[in-house]
Amino acid sequence: MITSKSITLSIIFLLYLVSCVSSQRETKFLNHGFLGANLLKFGSSKIHSSGLLELTNTSMRQIGQAFHGFPISFLNPNSSNSVSFSTSFVFAITPGPTTPGHGLSFVISPSMDFTGAFPSNYLGLFNTSTNGNPSNRILAVEFDTVQSVEMKDIDDNHVAIDQNGVVSIESAPAAFFDDREAKNISLKLASGEPIRVWVEYNATEMILNVTLAPLDRLKPSLPLLSRKLNLSGIISQENYIGFAAATGTVTSSHFVLGWSFSIEGKASDFDITKLPSLPDPPPPFSPSPNPPVSAKKNSNNTKLIIVFVASGTFGLMFLGFLGVCVFRRNNTFFTGGARKFSYQTISSATGGFNRFLGEENSGRFFRGQLAPTEIIAVKRITCSTRQQRLSMIAQIDAISRVRHRNLVNLIGYSSRGNEIYLVYKYVPNGSLDRFLLSNERPVLNWSDRFNIIKGIAKALQYLHSECQSTLIHGNVKSSNVLLDEELHAQLGDYGQGNRQSNTGHVAPELVEATAVPTCDTDVFAFGVLIIEIVCGRTAIEPTKPPEEISLVNWVFQGFRKNKLLECCDARINREEMVAREVLLVLKLGLLCTNRSPQVRPVMRKVVQYLDGTEPLPHDD
Ligand SMILES: *[C@@H]1O[C@H](CO)[C@@H](O)[C@H](O)[C@H]1NC(C)=O
Ligand SMILES: *[C@@H]1O[C@H](CO)[C@@H](O)[C@H](O)[C@H]1NC(C)=O
Ligand SMILES: *[C@@H]1O[C@H](CO)[C@@H](O)[C@H](O)[C@H]1NC(C)=O
Ligand SMILES: *[C@@H]1O[C@H](CO)[C@@H](O)[C@H](O)[C@H]1NC(C)=O
Ligand SMILES: *[C@@H]1O[C@H](CO)[C@@H](O)[C@H](O)[C@H]1NC(C)=O
Ligand SMILES: *[C@@H]1O[C@H](CO)[C@@H](O)[C@H](O)[C@H]1NC(C)=O
Ligand SMILES: *[C@@H]1O[C@H](CO)[C@@H](O)[C@H](O)[C@H]1NC(C)=O
Repeated sequence: MITSKSITLSIIFLLYLVSCVSSQRETKFLNHGFLGANLLKFGSSKIHSSGLLELTNTSMRQIGQAFHGFPISFLNPNSSNSVSFSTSFVFAITPGPTTPGHGLSFVISPSMDFTGAFPSNYLGLFNTSTNGNPSNRILAVEFDTVQSVEMKDIDDNHVAIDQNGVVSIESAPAAFFDDREAKNISLKLASGEPIRVWVEYNATEMILNVTLAPLDRLKPSLPLLSRKLNLSGIISQENYIGFAAATGTVTSSHFVLGWSFSIEGKASDFDITKLPSLPDPPPPFSPSPNPPVSAKKNSNNTKLIIVFVASGTFGLMFLGFLGVCVFRRNNTFFTGGARKFSYQTISSATGGFNRFLGEENSGRFFRGQLAPTEIIAVKRITCSTRQQRLSMIAQIDAISRVRHRNLVNLIGYSSRGNEIYLVYKYVPNGSLDRFLLSNERPVLNWSDRFNIIKGIAKALQYLHSECQSTLIHGNVKSSNVLLDEELHAQLGDYGQGNRQSNTGHVAPELVEATAVPTCDTDVFAFGVLIIEIVCGRTAIEPTKPPEEISLVNWVFQGFRKNKLLECCDARINREEMVAREVLLVLKLGLLCTNRSPQVRPVMRKVVQYLDGTEPLPHDD
């Protein structure tokens, strides 16, 4: 949709671009285990509840890949070379019943789509027709435990650099340089012991180094492989980075324990005490006496953090542990839309409520597991009055009929005494505030943000007008928006009645003590939230200069001065930002946060504005 203002807007946008070229997106991360990490998994990959990434188990002919959720720009804005990067990871390969196979690799690839790739000696990266094709633009560092003569492998325990195919351009038997004794010490890749790797590329020198050592060793001063490579001629500008592993007729479990990465700078070191431990061999069917979840302390667990990733997870061992916990048929009742669980089921699924996720409003969240593939988040609400409890239960039936892809769906509930337990599907990526407000997550690009905004709008439209009875959310804010693996928004914690918060999302009419939330107050909170999403900050930030403390006021001033785009989060990549959409969202945010409820649009209109099927009403 091209509005009459678009020319002026483009000019503003161009001016803005000029002032912003220096603000590059930061690309650095450090993961001890992968719980809550932004990792996309393919094939046989799964994350154990300890955070351990398992690419394959010891079944035959498996392929597993896992990629960092966002592409990384390898384009150097300052020169025609690519960028320097540094990455470090810890892997372990535990052989199956016979000899190990086939291997694991670190991959830089323009795409995460490896459909058609073969296992075995193609390592889950190539097949007979794609192997060696220069248009692949794939660079990999392989840790290969099988000697494949047709691929010209040097032995069955080597490290190699692969460019577009599994016939390596450089390889060496696995070893590390011992600085004290000044000699190479060979290393068995498939020993089941963790091995730390450093892959470093200096774009000025154009040298790629690969160094490895047992986890308990310092970094050797000399790399195992050191290869001159002009990467800008090999890889493309935007790439996905990650791991792939494959088994064949010989098999191993391939694990990654931790991973750090940095563009232009050294990848952070691991705190090895924070890495997840490996499962005890032999894994099959031996119930583990260890606590099944070594819950990692989260730096930020005052917020609602549903970060229990483990999508397929801990598998058989955990099943063994759960054994008796897996719910029995007669513990489950269906009432209307809601599945009612017995207290015992909920209690044992959450390990007696000891896997604390976070606290929000009147409830505390715990993670749990009903069945090996059914990961749940349980909200425990303590009702102070009998009246509150009854109205809560009355709400549950309505909530449980809600089914929408942008809402966290209620699976069921349970109650005991004055406590009510709401059981939700677990959503892997955690809450939106962690992406917007902290640097521990990758920066969301514009198209992700716009999609998230549209998703939240659709969820609210559904609650307000499309489900059986109107449901008021009552607490729209970024910590209540969860992101699934594809970064689609799922709005949670809805329909639980009258809550007040002091996060700047509360409509002015709600300040009165007797006021109750309405659709209009939801729209107000939605307006604040979408402005936060564009600006990458919270509604109220007391540490800002006075004119910027209230985000909505500041954006409104920007609107009056025709400088709206300057409010936008500086971390958003300017090249892919769509000024028209940014302005639409900010103006819509201002409209929704109008002091007068009558002026605010209803959610159905909001969705139409966002979809572009209806123009925004006149701007002033
Ligand atoms: C490996 O994983 C697959 C799929 O999750 C499962 O069917 C198979 O039994 C597992 N194999 C072993 C040896 O654990
Ligand atoms: C580009 O140059 C700027 C300014 O000298 C510097 O801060 C930045 O790190 C450089 N970026 C890269 C990728 O070399
Ligand atoms: C190899 O993979 C490509 C890309 O997915 C696919 O088009 C092709 O058919 C595959 N070749 C073979 C021999 O399977
Ligand atoms: C150690 O191994 C590397 C790679 O195989 C080799 O280039 C180097 O010469 C070896 N160094 C010593 C001291 O043997
Ligand atoms: C790679 O190793 C060589 C040889 O030890 C060293 O001179 C160079 O600085 C290293 N480069 C990087 C990027 O680590
Ligand atoms: C790359 O090598 C150059 C020259 O040796 C050095 O000045 C620069 O700091 C190195 N860059 C990185 C990122 O290590
Ligand atoms: C590296 O490759 C790029 C693209 O092929 C080319 O433009 C550049 O000149 C090369 N750099 C050197 C130093 O050869």
